[in-house]
Amino acid sequence: MTVVVYSSKSGSSKKYAEALSERTGLHIYPIGQQPADESIVFFGWLRDDTIVGLSQADISKVIAVCVVGLDDVGRFDKAAVAEKNGVKVPVYYLRGWIDRSKLNIVDKTVLLAVSVMMKLKGLNQYNQPIFDAMMEGGSFYDEKFLDPVTMFVESRR
Ligand SMILES: Cc1cc2nc3c(=O)[nH]c(=O)nc-3n(C[C@H](O)[C@H](O)[C@H](O)COP(=O)(O)O)c2cc1C
Repeated sequence: MTVVVYSSKSGSSKKYAEALSERTGLHIYPIGQQPADESIVFFGWLRDDTIVGLSQADISKVIAVCVVGLDDVGRFDKAAVAEKNGVKVPVYYLRGWIDRSKLNIVDKTVLLAVSVMMKLKGLNQYNQPIFDAMMEGGSFYDEKFLDPVTMFVESRR
């Protein structure tokens, strides 16, 4: 059997995981509460190039990794993130949201530093919405990003 496992700070990875669970009927667990024997479709958020929470999972059980971040789909470097996090199974990228009320001072400071760097390099029509989301909160959540993950799960049945 396969289960859905998630790690989420402001809720978007959790919402995607719940939506996949609804679509497929797979049981869902927060990281650390999953049964030991099941294979895992993992959802985790991106913090720099780290997939948060993945290191707490038994990587030998993970059959797919869904990475949730803010960045544009085209700017997500799947191969680099997979290598950095020791992932050798399929990786899917989904755009999430920022709920600043859920972030601590360290997170907010990191976002401020990234925002300043973005502004110094120059804002354009592509990175302005990401800049705005980092500064004020905002969402790129869209369940269409789950379509290839759903197909992957169905193909393994
Ligand atoms: C401290 C911090 C660092 C982040 N770094 C990145 C990043 O490098 N690339 C990216 O696309 N998104 C980055 N994000 C955005 C989160 O990955 C995004 O908001 C994600 O949807 C959060 O998932 P959650 O709602 O499940 O917590 C960062 C967010 C925070 C708070």
